[in-house]
Amino acid sequence: MTHGTKLPFLTTGDGSLTFFSAEFGQAFHNLSGAAQEALEKFVRPCRLDRLPLERDPLQPIHILDICFGLGYNSGIALETLWQVRPNFPVRVMGLERSPEVPRQAWQAGVGSHWSFRQTWQQWIEQGSWQSEQWQGELLWGDARQTLLQVPLGWADAVFLDPFSPSVCPELWTVEFLRAVAERMRPQGYLATYSCAASVRAALQEAGLHIGSTPPLGRPWPGTVASPQSQDLPPLSDMEWEHLKTRAAVPYRDPTLQEGRSEIRLRRQQEQQGSLLESTSVWKRRWHQ
Ligand SMILES: C[S@@+](CC[C@H](N)C(=O)[O-])C[C@H]1O[C@@H](n2cnc3c(N)ncnc32)[C@H](O)[C@@H]1O
Repeated sequence: MTHGTKLPFLTTGDGSLTFFSAEFGQAFHNLSGAAQEALEKFVRPCRLDRLPLERDPLQPIHILDICFGLGYNSGIALETLWQVRPNFPVRVMGLERSPEVPRQAWQAGVGSHWSFRQTWQQWIEQGSWQSEQWQGELLWGDARQTLLQVPLGWADAVFLDPFSPSVCPELWTVEFLRAVAERMRPQGYLATYSCAASVRAALQEAGLHIGSTPPLGRPWPGTVASPQSQDLPPLSDMEWEHLKTRAAVPYRDPTLQEGRSEIRLRRQQEQQGSLLESTSVWKRRWHQ
């Protein structure tokens, strides 16, 4: 997106707005509700509505927001945390390719009713915010590179929110997710809206355990993942069997620099040589 190009926006089912990306051919959010999606698919699965009650305030909560976009996931995380325990110290690192997205979102009114709106505005405009209560850094550029600036073992919560795997495969590969997993605390959680078998298999290959989060605005669930296996909401038999089909062949990007078409082609070739069950057989078995 070039500087100054206005992103077209849409109003979602809960009244919050989102943008539409011509490049990816997708809206930035589930149209049933952008704000609701942030809360139900990202903030709650990462347990940020509970963590401040369990954590010593001398140890700030660390949030890694991959594909910061309009900023809903981080903004609603901060609102939720401080409703549960006011002023609890938080650090946020947001990775986003285009500074225009959060800036235009702020200008269109996203965040205008948040209690911390003034500091939010400074963060969005300057890319960095520091106070006793919270610190924020926005790292602009391709998340495959900016992620490397996040310290190892740092994140309590990771929001993984790229456009879908078929249009943005570079942010769903085993190698990228392994680098993300290395930046999580041992008790941390990663949440994503996607339940694609390729994504879940990549999370497993990256060394994480996976669970299923409730559907919202569409029939399929999301995914929560963690280095530890306790307390993860279980997958159904149908979901486990999906991971034994060819749909579960993950995307790969060994150099973390490949183009989309190379990444897609590598997966197609791996699927063609795979002995896994065909996904259409699985679909028929489960009447999908
Ligand atoms: C689905 S939207 C994210 C919505 C966002 N989480 C929110 O709450 O508003 C995907 C975002 O990924 C960004 N993006 C696309 N490719 C990227 C890349 N390689 N690295 C970093 N950000 C990228 C887009 O600019 C877009 O803002």
